Amino acid sequence: MTEHTQLIDAINIRTSVRAYDKDPIDDDTARQLTMTIDAVNTLADTHLQLVLNQPKVFEAANASGHLTNAANYIALVEPKDDPEARERAGFYAERVVLAATLRGLGTLWVGGSWDREEAARHCRIGRGEEAYLCVVIGYPEHHLSYQAKSYDELTAFQRSHRPTKTFAQFTAGMTDEERAAAPAWFTAGVEAAMKAPSAMNRQPITFTYNAADDTAAAHIDPAEDYRETLNDLGIAKLHFQIGAGSGEWAWGDGGLFIHKQ
Ligand SMILES: Cc1cc2nc3c(=O)[nH]c(=O)nc-3n(C[C@H](O)[C@H](O)[C@H](O)COP(=O)(O)O)c2cc1C
Repeated sequence: MTEHTQLIDAINIRTSVRAYDKDPIDDDTARQLTMTIDAVNTLADTHLQLVLNQPKVFEAANASGHLTNAANYIALVEPKDDPEARERAGFYAERVVLAATLRGLGTLWVGGSWDREEAARHCRIGRGEEAYLCVVIGYPEHHLSYQAKSYDELTAFQRSHRPTKTFAQFTAGMTDEERAAAPAWFTAGVEAAMKAPSAMNRQPITFTYNAADDTAAAHIDPAEDYRETLNDLGIAKLHFQIGAGSGEWAWGDGGLFIHKQ
């Protein structure tokens, strides 16, 4: 894995991890994670918070076997009723997920498999805010053998471990001719978004390319309207941006992506 240190490499190997080793996250790794989270919070005005060694938050999911040894989490503390903050939290928390992936940590976005009230007790939550989602984080079960796997083994597993909508479904607003004529950066962006986590694996975001002004746009599929769609929009936009190489999104459903050469 040592030569694969880019965010696109993290996208290519990341999968949700539901079974963890019991070992606590070591101090050095926890410090690095905290530094990444602090930098993100300062830049992005998010309130991500790392909470270590609180297995009670996942007691029911650990007991049922849905999760194993889940104990640490990054809480997404967000203002209530602020759609843009929800999307931003998705975008930037996934950025932390990818950094953690490169350090050999496993992650799982969680909307339902946690005790939100118990989790909130360990967070700083300001007036008008709530702990909306969290990301479980820790060493994947049997992590020494996991970390010994080659990059190619990990990417092969990533590609085959779950069903995915097709490229055509991800670009449902485009014709075959438009798909064939779209630039390579757009195709690479969509392919990276296809590897993004989404609640219930619903993959609710589609992308279009507009040749007239050389922009891309991200859309929430109108058929998909669940609690986490805006977080999923932010996550998918981050993956697209990394896949496309460079460029920037405007927030929002229908927001445009300007590619930079
Ligand atoms: C916002 C969000 C909420 C999620 N909530 C849960 C959850 O409560 N329980 C769970 O087991 N997985 C949850 N997931 C994980 C998804 O099921 C998973 O990302 C999806 O199946 C795709 O698989 P992958 O992450 O391995 O690519 C959630 C994912 C996202 C993005």
